[in-house]
Amino acid sequence: MTETRTQANEDRTVFRSWFLLILVTIIVLGLGFVAMSMLGESIDEGASDPDVFQATDVFMQPDAEWNTSILVSKSPETREIRRLSWLVVLIAIGIFVVVEVLLIFAMIRYRKKSGEEGEPVQMYGSNPIELAWTVIPILIVVALCLTTVRTIQSIQPTVTERPDNALDVEVIGHRWWWEFRIPEYDVVTANEVSVPVGRPIWLILDSADVIHSFWVPELQGKMDAIPAKTNYWRFTADETGTYLGQCAEYCGTQHANMLIRVDVLEEDAFRAWAVEQGQPPADIEDERVIAGRETFLQFACRNCHGIAGVSEGTYAPDLTHLMSRTLIAGGMLPNNENNLKAWLEDPQKIKPGCDMPALQLSTSQIEDVVAYLMTLD
Ligand code: CUA
Repeated sequence: MTETRTQANEDRTVFRSWFLLILVTIIVLGLGFVAMSMLGESIDEGASDPDVFQATDVFMQPDAEWNTSILVSKSPETREIRRLSWLVVLIAIGIFVVVEVLLIFAMIRYRKKSGEEGEPVQMYGSNPIELAWTVIPILIVVALCLTTVRTIQSIQPTVTERPDNALDVEVIGHRWWWEFRIPEYDVVTANEVSVPVGRPIWLILDSADVIHSFWVPELQGKMDAIPAKTNYWRFTADETGTYLGQCAEYCGTQHANMLIRVDVLEEDAFRAWAVEQGQPPADIEDERVIAGRETFLQFACRNCHGIAGVSEGTYAPDLTHLMSRTLIAGGMLPNNENNLKAWLEDPQKIKPGCDMPALQLSTSQIEDVVAYLMTLD
């Protein structure tokens, strides 16, 4: 009789401990959630200017025809990756089901039955069972390891495996933007690049400062861009369309604002784009535009930004065809007159820590420079 009562007390204590643990977990998670949403709101307030988008807004546009889903494959390489991912998920689901079924079976079949005294019969050391749960996981891990190595081998090229008809695209990671160069057409651009559909694209990856990682989920897996080491990467896009990507290696405060946009075009449209990008800017006649170019040349702009035939800076994004790009500031803002003005006024307000300083231009100087920039299409 006393034994039963002690047992009941123990049960109650165990129940109470679990109840407390779950309650505390819920409270901590709830507080964390509230803190996160308050932080999010204060960030949103900071960017209350209607023209000032965050990179996430660009990703989240509900009507956008692109996305960055890792479940969508638009190249043979990503299909291989997806196949492997699903294999891993299916095996994990299989393991989960088997373990849970055995667990629930054991809990019901071998629980203490009413009327039984003391603990149920304890069993130790079944050789067949111990052998099974050692050997089966080893076999699963070996199988996963082999398929992973095979997948990596099939998608990750070595230098000597550049396809003969490939288009070379040099990708250089900068804090915090991407430089793209297509030597075949003398193209130098930033953050947004076009490539032809169906033709192998041979990426030559480098970095100007720290380690970045080039990742456009629908076209290829991640590949690091490392200073003083060249990596090679390859994909062949199946379909035309716009594919977004993101730097995937933490590279400093503005790591989140290093957007990649790849426009996959039909061969003809790509060639037209590339030839256009290789052209110097058109002649300018408007007085305000000429004044803007003078200001651009008088201030530090020219030291960092290149414009074909005007300035030779290579430290910052090339501006020769600035207006052909949809976004500025590494993908933070739509590229339009108001945002260009806001950016010139104080880049640090929009992208704190970036290398572009506020040049203390007067309002009319900013208007002139933006008028000039708007001609660079
Ligand atoms: Cu570049 Cu993260």
